[in-house]
Amino acid sequence: MSLQKLDIYRVRNLQHVSLEPAATLNLIFGNNASGKSSIIEAIHLLGRANSFRSTSVKNVIHFDHNDLIVSGKVRFNNAHVSTLGIQHDGKNLQIRIDEETRHSRSDLAYALPIQLIHPKSYQLLDAGPQLRREFIDWGVFNQHPDFLDNWRHFKKALNQRNALLKIRSVNELNVWNHELQQYGTIVAKYRKQYLAELTPFFSTIAQQFLELENLELKLIQGWDEQSSLLDKLVEDQEKDLRYGFTHSGPHRADFQLLLESRKAKDFVSRGQLKLLVLSLKLAQVELLLSKGFISGCVLIDDAVAELDFSSRTKLLAFLVSMDMQVFMTATEQNEFGNLEDIGDYKMFHVKHGVVTEVNVSRETLIKK
Ligand SMILES: Nc1ncnc2c1ncn2[C@@H]1O[C@H](COP(=O)(O)OP(=O)(O)OP(=O)(O)O)[C@@H](O)[C@H]1O
Ligand SMILES: [Mg+2]
Repeated sequence: MSLQKLDIYRVRNLQHVSLEPAATLNLIFGNNASGKSSIIEAIHLLGRANSFRSTSVKNVIHFDHNDLIVSGKVRFNNAHVSTLGIQHDGKNLQIRIDEETRHSRSDLAYALPIQLIHPKSYQLLDAGPQLRREFIDWGVFNQHPDFLDNWRHFKKALNQRNALLKIRSVNELNVWNHELQQYGTIVAKYRKQYLAELTPFFSTIAQQFLELENLELKLIQGWDEQSSLLDKLVEDQEKDLRYGFTHSGPHRADFQLLLESRKAKDFVSRGQLKLLVLSLKLAQVELLLSKGFISGCVLIDDAVAELDFSSRTKLLAFLVSMDMQVFMTATEQNEFGNLEDIGDYKMFHVKHGVVTEVNVSRETLIKK
């Protein structure tokens, strides 16, 4: 699928922007503070009904106004066209799909799946484990509709157990130990299976970008692999009561990226780290596509800074080889990489919140 038409009203410094994006690659450039990320944010709003920059959509509304609207026409591979729209009036969010009001964000997410890569994404490998758990769970959620239910049961059992630990209610712990064992084991199994499925996609992409071999994604499930979770909970009980929380379980899970059996984050360069994160994120999309899920948009905001020209060119070539619509930003027109061999793309220039499509003459571009 692809976004054929996009209208943005009163999002940050964009008063009204109307775009007809390419079904493949869309390159957006402009000075700092011109409004590039705001365009990416608007597309993200349309697909996820939330912002990746503000906890509240209210902050995204143009300062001089009281509401924002983003609407788009999405064309599916079977030529069906859907109209999506979201409006926020500072209090309420309204979602419309094909003229009908919807109440669930997941309807939007299904109509316009989004994979976002932005500067914060690069923390994936060197920040705390929370981001890595979210990364795995996003992948599992998208592939297995029943994961969410198991995950919620596990979370409930964990919260109940922690509450009991705090009040030292030892007798009731047993019930929740069993619940945790049941659902925690399922969550861990899904995660492990997901990483195993992701690995070949990730390795192939990483090899193209980095020529690195022997990459391994290793799940740390959150408790000793040799024990059952139940045994571990019983063994930890004294310690858990002392500290008032559960030390072992899927909430402590993590994954490591190993390169020749060494932890990649401990020795790769900054640029390599970025390319590894890009490979991981794009591998998630490739895995979903390989399973027959509908394609969506890949949004890449400011993510090519610090990559050398040859890496940018490899990234571009890979992006056009994917069956995905891509939106990518940079401050300069020649920052995206070598566009000579890229067939179908559009370029947009942003200045003070106004977007103009650039008529790209292939000859004049990029001989850097
Ligand atoms: N609610 C708002 N209303 C109006 N303008 C806003 C609002 N929020 C942010 N802005 C301004 O919008 C402008 C565009 O911001 P944006 O982040 O889109 O720029 P950018 O082109 O991505 O810049 P950079 O290259 O620095 O990342 C900035 O000047 C910002 O201060
Ligand atoms: Mg920006």
